[in-house]
Formats: sequence, structure tokens, C-alpha cells
Amino acid sequence: MTKTADKIIVALDVATKEKALDLIEQLHGQISFFKIGLQLYTAEGPEIVRAVRATGANVFLDLKLHDIPNTVALAVESAGHLEIQMLTIHLSGGEAMIRAAVSVKPRDFLLLGVTVLTSVDEQAIRQIGIPDKIGNHVLRLAKLGVENGIDGFVASAHEIKTLRREFGDKIKLVVPGIRPSWSEAGDQKRVMSPREALDAGADYLVIGRPIIARSRPSEAAIKIIQELDA
Ligand code: C5P
Repeated sequence: MTKTADKIIVALDVATKEKALDLIEQLHGQISFFKIGLQLYTAEGPEIVRAVRATGANVFLDLKLHDIPNTVALAVESAGHLEIQMLTIHLSGGEAMIRAAVSVKPRDFLLLGVTVLTSVDEQAIRQIGIPDKIGNHVLRLAKLGVENGIDGFVASAHEIKTLRREFGDKIKLVVPGIRPSWSEAGDQKRVMSPREALDAGADYLVIGRPIIARSRPSEAAIKIIQELDA
């Protein structure tokens, strides 16, 4: 497997374990890192994580935890027992919650912070009582995360440069909203190609539909890897 392929995390945005394992099988030899999000985890529970890990693949568990510090810490501890590689929490849970999560995470796993969801626009952020620009709020939450020990962020491609400038190499950047030139943007509004995102400083690319919604996912994955290696 090439180094480039290791930077790609395929989002298993499917409803069942069977579909998820079928995708993993189809991508065998190309992709070895998969994101399990709320849909699949809610449908199949921790068993899906164990099943994906049993194939030898790495797991990014994207649960975006946000609760009182004690509850989040207990959930992070449980996730640690699943031997996953990455987990997300919402940084808007505040300092005490972030610290509680960081204090119990296993050493070899990346605890990633979510700042402001990309679905939130200026109007939506006003509605929840934040008078600042989204960009400023993203940076404020990111600083809170780094000050309290977060390992990195899930960030839109267009935030990569700012976050790298601010925090340098001490953080990992995991970037969704990736679209090769030959795939449709769908509901993603601000997209970047895999090459552009890596050049801008992404450590990992999260790719869903450009691979999983194709009739031949492995061909799409190979094409993306070839384009990155070219
Ligand atoms: O299909 P697509 O490539 O758009 O999938 C992107 C994945 O990344 C989805 O699982 C989506 O939930 C997730 N994601 C995102 N934008 C964010 C955070 C997560 O698209 N800001």
C-alpha cells in the first residue's frame, strides 16, 4: 500500500453492517481506514466497530460527542476499549468537557475536535447567540481545544491554511468535503480536490460519495490514489 492511500479515510455512510463490510471488501488492498458515523453506529452499535477492526482496517469513529464532562469521559473510555484510531468531540462542550475527554483517551488514539459544523451559516450562528464571524468562532474553539490537549481537528478544506498557520505541525487535520474533478459536489458547498487539500496541509482526507456511491468503488479509489501519486 502506498503512503498516499494511508491518508484516505472512506466514510462508511451506509445503513447496515453488510453494506459496510461489502464496501471494505471491495476496497481491499486500496483503502485501510474507514469512518463510522452516526447513521451506521446507531444502526449497528459497537459491533460494527469490532467487525471493521477485525478486517484489519483502522477506524475513525465520528460520534461528535457533546455532553457533561463526566459522561463524555466515560464515552471516550468506552471508545478506547474498541481500539479505534480516531474519535470526535464537539469543542463547544467547553474546557471542562475537553479536558475530561483528553484525560482518559488512550495514548495511541487521536481525539479530534469539531469546531463549527460546515452546515452552520452566519444566520444560524447568530440564532444560537454567537455574534461573531464564523471564522473567528472556529479559531476561538480551535485554540480552546489545543490549549486543553486536543490532537487535531475535523476541518473544512478552506480552514486548513488558517489552522496550520496558527498551530503548525502539532495538530492533525482531517478534512471532508473532498471532490475529485470528475465527481459531483452533491450537497457539499465548498469542496476541494484531493490534491489541493493535501497541498494545503491536510493530514487525512475523508471521502464518501465520490467512492462509495460509484458502481465500482475500487475503480474510483484507484483513480484518486493515482491522481495523488501523479
Ligand atoms: O460523501 P461525502 O464525501 O460528502 O462525505 C463526507 C463525510 O464527511 C460524511 O460522512 C459527512 O458526514 C462528513 N463530514 C462532512 N463535513 C463536515 C464534517 C463531516 O462532510 N464538516
